[in-house]
Formats: sequence, C-alpha cells, structure tokens
Amino acid sequence: MTTLTLQTPDDWHLHFRDGDMLQETVAATARCFQRAIVMPNLVTPVTNREQAMQYRQRIMDARPAGSRFQPLMTLYLTDATTADDIREAKRAGIPAAKLYPAGATTHSHAAVSALDRLASLFEVMSEEDMLLLIHGEVTDSDIDIFDREKIFTDHHLSAIAENFPKLKIVFEHITTKDAAEFVAESANHVAATITPQHLLLNRNDLLVGGVHPHNYCLPVLKRNIHQQALREAVASGSHKFFLGTDSAPHEKHNKESACGCAGCYSARSAIELYAQVFEELGCLDKLEGFASHYGADFYGLPRNGGSITLTRQEWQVPNEITLPNGHSIVPFFAGKVLQWKLTHTSMD
Ligand code: NCD
Ligand code: ZN
Ligand code: ZN
Repeated sequence: MTTLTLQTPDDWHLHFRDGDMLQETVAATARCFQRAIVMPNLVTPVTNREQAMQYRQRIMDARPAGSRFQPLMTLYLTDATTADDIREAKRAGIPAAKLYPAGATTHSHAAVSALDRLASLFEVMSEEDMLLLIHGEVTDSDIDIFDREKIFTDHHLSAIAENFPKLKIVFEHITTKDAAEFVAESANHVAATITPQHLLLNRNDLLVGGVHPHNYCLPVLKRNIHQQALREAVASGSHKFFLGTDSAPHEKHNKESACGCAGCYSARSAIELYAQVFEELGCLDKLEGFASHYGADFYGLPRNGGSITLTRQEWQVPNEITLPNGHSIVPFFAGKVLQWKLTHTSMD
C-alpha cells in the first residue's frame, strides 16, 4: 500500500496555548484535523463562557487563510464553578468541561481541590449532556508518580463512572494497562484518548542513556507492558479509544531546564505518528475509526466530510521550530524519520 485515505480526522485533546504561539500551533493542527478539543489550561485558566468565546476567537483569527478548521472549547473546572457556568457554556456550544486535580499538571494550580464537592456539577453536566474530560492522576506527595493514574482510577474515577451513569466521561491520555482495562470494561459512557507518545514510547525512552526532556509529559511514560497494552487497545478497533494527541508545546529553554516542563509538541507530525504505530501493529485499516469516527460518535457530533491522504514517503521531523517570538520548540520525535506523510486534503 502506498497511499492511505481517511475521512478527515479530529484531535480530541490538545493545547494551543495563546498569543503569537497560536500562529504556529493552530496552523500545525489545521493542516490535517477538521476539529480539535482545546484544553483550557492557559496561564489564566478558561473558567467561563466568556473567556472561552474570547479564546475561541483568537484561535479562529490565527487560522491559515482558507482553513475550515473549527476549535471546540472546554471549560476548566475549579472549586468555584457553578451550575450556571455549566449551563451557559453548554448554551454557547462548549461541549465539555475539564477536570484537573489541583497540582496534577501544567497550569493546574487553580483547579479542583476536593473531588467529592463536584457531585452537583456532575448532575448538571449529565442533564446538559456536557462531557467530563479528566486528567486522571492523584497528586498526593506520598504516591509514586508511576502509580498515580491507577490510584486515581481505583479511588475516584470508578466511583464517578458508577454514580453518574449518564455523564459522558473521557479518561484523557491514558498511560497504563489498568486504565485501558478500566475503560474497556466500563459502560459505554466512558471512553479514552491515547497520545502518540504513549503508543510509541515507554519510560526507557525518557531515562536510558540520560534524561530526555522532550519525552517528558504527564502522565509520565510507563514501563513497556503498559505501552504494549495501549497498543493492543488501539489495535482492537474498540470504539472506546480515540485520537487525542495532547500536543502541548513548551519553548525549548523551558523543557531543557533544571525543572523541565511536561508536554510533547506533536502537532506537526500527529497523523503521521499514529500511522506509524498502526502500521507497526499491522492494522492500518483501524486508523480511520480511531482518528475520524469514534471521537465524533462519542461526543455526539457528526463525522467530518472530506478526506486526507497519506503517502508512503520517508521524511524527517524537524529538529527545531522557530516561533514568531524568535524562541524555538523542539517537536516530538525531532530528527526522527517517519514512513508516512500527509500529501493531500480534500474538503468534500
Ligand atoms: C500538558 C500541558 O503542558 O499543558 N502537559 C502534559 O505533559 N501532558 C498538560 C496535560 O495535558 O496534562
Ligand atoms: Zn493532562
Ligand atoms: Zn493535555
């Protein structure tokens, strides 16, 4: 096979950031995705409808000429989020709210400190058909970083899923066998996104031969049995697992630092990275469901018209990308050779 055509895909989890960084990030994603779920963890988090609509406009303004890319906004839940915040957001077309346990990841200090106080919000979200997107890690200092996702699943997520059977829940960027099993065994209101880095890498890629800061993301890469389980999950063709890159740019100097930021910037090669994984697994025929169908179906949104075509063609991910502010980003998989390249998009 030398070409691969997919119905236009969507990215169900990413970080565009803000300001002139949008020139880079929005164009990179609009290259191949029709829609993207935009995370709300800006320096000042996006906690209400108005902020989300303003942020949406800044993203729209950064689209390349002629692009039909559509951002889908999210609300950042805090201890102060009200039922009215949820209802207003939903009325403005915001499909989802994001739960970060406070301190779990980049810009999450303002997030939720006590999960059990959220029950009434989850009721409203169920009624309004607003999805709950979760960064599923506990933050207790005495819990090992490699166990934080599993403990969150056992202590919190399983109870939320059981107590709110009408609430659609996306367990974001899952990293463990335990999470994949939990999602596969849950009722149909629970699904998960899986990133390219968690499919392509394991913790050796972070730590062997030196620390590799550009492979550092949260939840942190796990041991290879977990990587294997995630690969099996996507190869199964289950509709519960869909594409969410978690593309999360940080400038090079903030990654290569004594306290490096978490996040991999994968947007420049996102669909090609996934194609590489699915080819390695011998299931390129499953890529379209994962990339273009299951996410839209779970969100209750129409699948896209149009298509993208990838061609078997070696190309090298750039070593560095210069941002409009003159600083640079090292993209995920920098300098590595990929086997598939996006060569054509068709609008209808
Ligand atoms: C994300 C970021 O930088 O915003 N980082 C990451 O490592 N994944 C935050 C997140 O998705 O948890
Ligand atoms: Zn996260
Ligand atoms: Zn993320």
